[in-house]
Amino acid sequence: MTQPQPAHPQAAQARARIQQMKRSFEEKRAITDSLAGVKRTIGVYSGKGGVGKTTVAVNLAVTLAQEGARVGILDVDIDCPNVVRAMKVSEPPTVNEDKKMYPPERFGVRIMSMGFFQKDEKEAIIWRGPMVHNAINQLLQSTDWGELDYLIVDLPPGTSDSPLTVMQTLSLDGFVVVTTPQELSKVDALRSINMIKTLKVNVLGIVENFSGEMFGSGAGEELASELDLPFLGRLELRPDYRDTSRPTVLTSKTVLGEYQQIVEQAKAVLETLATGVA
Ligand SMILES: Nc1ncnc2c1ncn2[C@@H]1O[C@H](COP(=O)(O)OP(=O)(O)O)[C@@H](O)[C@H]1O
Ligand SMILES: [Mg+2]
Repeated sequence: MTQPQPAHPQAAQARARIQQMKRSFEEKRAITDSLAGVKRTIGVYSGKGGVGKTTVAVNLAVTLAQEGARVGILDVDIDCPNVVRAMKVSEPPTVNEDKKMYPPERFGVRIMSMGFFQKDEKEAIIWRGPMVHNAINQLLQSTDWGELDYLIVDLPPGTSDSPLTVMQTLSLDGFVVVTTPQELSKVDALRSINMIKTLKVNVLGIVENFSGEMFGSGAGEELASELDLPFLGRLELRPDYRDTSRPTVLTSKTVLGEYQQIVEQAKAVLETLATGVA
């Protein structure tokens, strides 16, 4: 009696590879489908946490909405998904019959966040590369954004696995990089900009936050000129941010003015990128 032939290991490997390729193709298509109504996707990113990345993402989104644009904000800062708190949303997304999630709207901005799926705000979630990839994929595939002029994305800071995975999973039109006036923060920003460049994603420009008497100012502008990148503007350190009842552009005309200037600059950069004219 002859033994049954074992399956050819190379054929099995090839089949597994094809399956994997098929899955990743389907994933990509599902993401493209759910983002089909989104005109521009802009990432907000920084070399380290605590520099005001979420504040900038939220206020940029609200400023654009105030100008009449249709805006969404996607919070994929895995370790600190703070957009839900900053936007004061209490209701989670609603789910329709075809299992799509509708982001709740606040201050004219549609909001989707990893924070909606945390049981406890204080709970630390330790995400590893493949988990980050799966979670983001799922969030992207199942969200129904509808038609949007801008989707602002709050990314994880730094150059670890998480931001890298997010950048590879999402296709972004460009990044706004937030830095502070301190030298050390400039080094972090430089490192993170180099990572973005490696991934061949556009940097729309640099924003300096916490400018003013306390920390000085100028490091953001210096960095921009060293890297030959647009400097989008300066945001001063102000007590107005202590009022957390709503995004500060809605409570301070001066802060709104600062953001309007940044928005104008960023739009101009997006325009030149779109037309290919430098
Ligand atoms: N220009 C500013 N002036 C005063 N406080 C600010 C300013 N920008 C941000 N903040 C405050 O700094 C803290 C950290 O900002 P956050 O946006 O959460 O940082 P990140 O997302 O980079 O960790 C928050 O309490 C925020 O209100
Ligand atoms: Mg944050």
